[in-house]
Amino acid sequence: MILIVGGTGALGSATTEKLLAQNTAVRVMTRNPIKAQALQALGAEVVQGDLRDRDSLLRACQGVNAIMASAHSIMGRGSEASKYIDEQGHKWLMEAAKTAGVWQFVYVSALGAAPDNPVPFFRIKYKMEQTLRSTGLPFTILRPTAFMESHAYGFIGKSILETGKVQLFGQGENPRNLWRPPMWLTLLCGHCWSRIWLGKCWKLAAQKT
Ligand SMILES: NC(=O)c1ccc[n+]([C@@H]2O[C@H](COP(=O)([O-])OP(=O)(O)OC[C@H]3O[C@@H](n4cnc5c(N)ncnc54)[C@H](OP(=O)(O)O)[C@@H]3O)[C@@H](O)[C@H]2O)c1
Repeated sequence: MILIVGGTGALGSATTEKLLAQNTAVRVMTRNPIKAQALQALGAEVVQGDLRDRDSLLRACQGVNAIMASAHSIMGRGSEASKYIDEQGHKWLMEAAKTAGVWQFVYVSALGAAPDNPVPFFRIKYKMEQTLRSTGLPFTILRPTAFMESHAYGFIGKSILETGKVQLFGQGENPRNLWRPPMWLTLLCGHCWSRIWLGKCWKLAAQKT
């Protein structure tokens, strides 16, 4: 049984669908099980959980062999701020995974994760990579670049199509490296769960910007 935390998200839901199609048992954790109804209909087990609720993480991890941590709260504010979800919540998730004795923890970090990145989110990602390494859990770290669907369409294309305007970060002259999560699915649903991926950190990006 693989637990997908963030299973209702762009990457998590696509991974869940593909794993189910391969007859792999999947448990999806979500704060709101209604969001996971379509995945449940495909055969996923759905569990209610919140990265801010430690006990819910212990429950979600019970009986699972492997975990993919693909939830995040980059834009979260107040009680949903990144420090509660991406940092504290992930520490608790790692502890819960250890208690449950999982044999692989796949952590979805981000390309650019570094202790000196000017963006706090990327510093937290780096910190969580280090925390995971120190837990003793068998781990695989993935550092993807920005997702084409979220960035090219969600942040830019949709706004241009709907309003003719777009808000760009910076001068608008920086080349961006984008990748499509569907391209990773073969990797995420196959090799990634192999023991030869353990203890490694993989950077996932398009060849050219
Ligand atoms: N999108 C990108 O361009 C990009 C680039 C590099 C790395 N990444 C990383 O890739 C992973 C997947 O990103 P994505 O874009 O697929 O995510 P997404 O579509 O934005 O979905 C976010 C997920 O996080 C979950 N979540 C948020 N707050 C939560 C909480 N308090 N407790 C439990 N779950 C919570 C949501 O679940 P519910 O709402 O169902 O609870 C949802 O499934 C993340 O780790 C992200 O940092 C993304």
